[in-house]
Amino acid sequence: MTIKDTFYITTPIYYVNAVPHLGTAYTTVASDALARFMRSNSRDVWFLTGLDEHGQKIEQAAHAKGKTAQDWVDEIAPKFKHAWQALNITYDDFIRTTEPRHFKGVQRFFEELYKKDYIYKDTYRGYYCVPDETFFSDEQLAEFAEERAAEELPSTHDDGSPLCPDCTRPLEYMEEENLFFKLSAFEQRLLDYYEAHPEFIQPEIRRNEVLSFVKSGLKDLSVSRTTFSWGVPISFAPGHISYVWVDALLNYITALGYGSDAPEDKERFAQYWPAQVQFIGKDIIRFHCVIWPAMLMAAGLELPQTVFAHGFLLTKGEKMSKSKGNAMDPNTLIENFSADGYRYYFLRDVQFGTDGSISLERMLQVYNADLANSWGNLCSRALNMTAKYLDGITPELSDNTTLLLSEAMGNPLAQLVDGGLHRRYATAFEAVDFLGAMDVVMELVDAANLYIEQSAPWALAKAAAGESEVSDGPTQADRLSFVLYNILESIRIIAVLFAPVMPTSSAEVWKRLGLGSILDVDNQAALCAWGGLAPHLKTTIGEPLFMRLAEDDLLV
Ligand code: MSP
Repeated sequence: MTIKDTFYITTPIYYVNAVPHLGTAYTTVASDALARFMRSNSRDVWFLTGLDEHGQKIEQAAHAKGKTAQDWVDEIAPKFKHAWQALNITYDDFIRTTEPRHFKGVQRFFEELYKKDYIYKDTYRGYYCVPDETFFSDEQLAEFAEERAAEELPSTHDDGSPLCPDCTRPLEYMEEENLFFKLSAFEQRLLDYYEAHPEFIQPEIRRNEVLSFVKSGLKDLSVSRTTFSWGVPISFAPGHISYVWVDALLNYITALGYGSDAPEDKERFAQYWPAQVQFIGKDIIRFHCVIWPAMLMAAGLELPQTVFAHGFLLTKGEKMSKSKGNAMDPNTLIENFSADGYRYYFLRDVQFGTDGSISLERMLQVYNADLANSWGNLCSRALNMTAKYLDGITPELSDNTTLLLSEAMGNPLAQLVDGGLHRRYATAFEAVDFLGAMDVVMELVDAANLYIEQSAPWALAKAAAGESEVSDGPTQADRLSFVLYNILESIRIIAVLFAPVMPTSSAEVWKRLGLGSILDVDNQAALCAWGGLAPHLKTTIGEPLFMRLAEDDLLV
C-alpha cells in the first residue's frame, strides 16, 4: 500500500444563532469541491466543518427564545447537518464546541500557555461587539470615528455608545478582570513568518491587509470572560471561561485530537496537522491570520500552510445577511436547481477570493445555459444517438481504423483532451480557482457539442445504411462508430472533471455509460487520458440531467 499525501481542509465553524444561509453554504460547498478534487487525485483528505456554539451572542439568542443555551444549540445543530446533507457535503468530521473532546483540548491549551508564561491577569476596560464577539481598542474606535466623520456619518448610537467598526451595531462597554494572552510578543515573529511564507495568507490583497495591521502594532488580547458562563471553563482561573474566539479557533486542532492522550488521537493529530488549507470569509481574517498563528506559535505547534479568504456574496450590491433581510434560503434554491446546480452556480459565477454579485435571475441563466442546454443536452444527444445507431452499446474500433479515421476526419476532441486539458484544470483547482477549472471543462463541453454539429452522425448513419460493398478501408459504419466513440469518450471525461463540483449528475452519467462508481475515483488524471472508454458497455438514456427552467417554474 502506498502512503498518500494528506490534505487537511477546514471551514470556519458556524455560529448557531442562525440557520445555514448562502454565505455559510458558500464556504462549505467550496471546501467540499476541493476536498473531492483532492480525493479524486489520490490525496488522503480530512475535511472538517462544525459549529461555534459558545459566546454571549448565542446565550442571548437562546434566552431571547426563552431557552437554555444548550437546548438552543441542540436544536440548531441538526439543521446544519441537514443542510450539508442536502448539498452533498462529504465532511469527515463535524465538531461542535460543546463536545467534551473540545473542552479537553481548550483547557489543555490554556494550561500550556499559562505554563509558558504567555497568560496573565489584568483588567479589561473598553468596548466589545457582542454580535461580532470582538474587542475594539480606543485607537481602532478613533480611527473609525474619523472615517465616518469624513463621510458625514455618525459613529455613535443615539444613547452615545460607539458603533462597531465592522458591523456598525452599538458596542457594549465592559470592565472586567480577564486573562490576557501576550499577543504583542508575537508581532515580529508573525511578520517574519509572513515574509518567509508568502503562501500563508491568500489572496494577496488579504495578505497586504494583515501585514499592515500587524505592522501598526499588536496589543495583548483578552482571552477570558467572567460575566457569563456559556463557554469553556479555564482550569487554573475559577470563574473564567475562554473568550469565544480562542475557543472557536482551537476547534481546528481539538477535532484532530489535540489535548487527548489516547493513542488514536495522537496519531490522527500527527497525521493531519498542520492543515493544507483553511477556508474563511474575508471578515474573519484577523482572527485566522494574526491571533490563530500566534496562538499556535505560543503552544509550539506548526502553522497551517494556507489560510484562504473568500469574498462576500452580494445581493443588490450589499453583503447578504440575515440581519439585512436579503438572505436567500439555500433549501429553496436546491429545490429549484438541484444540489449540483446550486454548487455549480456559486463556484462558476463568483471568482473565489473576490466579492461577487449573485441573483436568482443570473442563477437561472447560468443553469439553463451551461447545465440544461450545453452539458445536459450533450449527454442526452450522445446517449440517444448511441441507442438509435449502435443499439446502446459503446463501439469497438481497431487501432488501425481509429488511426486512419483520425487522419481522414481529424479528432479535435482527442487533441483538446490530450493537449493538457487535465493539467490546466488541476492547476486551476490547486489555485482554488473554481471558476477557471469550470471554464476548462466547459471548453470540452462546447467542443463536443460543436463536434456533433460538424460530424453530423445522423448523416453518417444514413450513409452507412445505404452502404453496399465492403471496402478495404474504414466504412461509413466505422465512421459513425468513430464519431460516436469520440462523443461518448468526451462525456466520460467531462463527468470525471465535473464530479468534484457536481457529484450526483456526474455519477449518473457514468452509470448511464455503463461505468462504475465515479465516487470511487482516486486517479483522476489517468482517467482523463483519451481513449479510456471500454467497448461493449451497455448504455442507457435516462431522464434529462438538468431540466430547462423558466422563471415561472421557480419556487421563491
Ligand atoms: N463562528 C465564526 C467563525 C469561527 S471559525 C474559528 C463565524 N461564524 S459565521 O457563521 O458568522 O460565519 C462563518 C463564515 O461565513 C465566515 O467566513 C463568513 O465570511 C461567511 N459568510 C457569512 N456571510 C457571508 C456572505 N454574505 N458571503 C460570503 N460569506 C459570508 O464567523
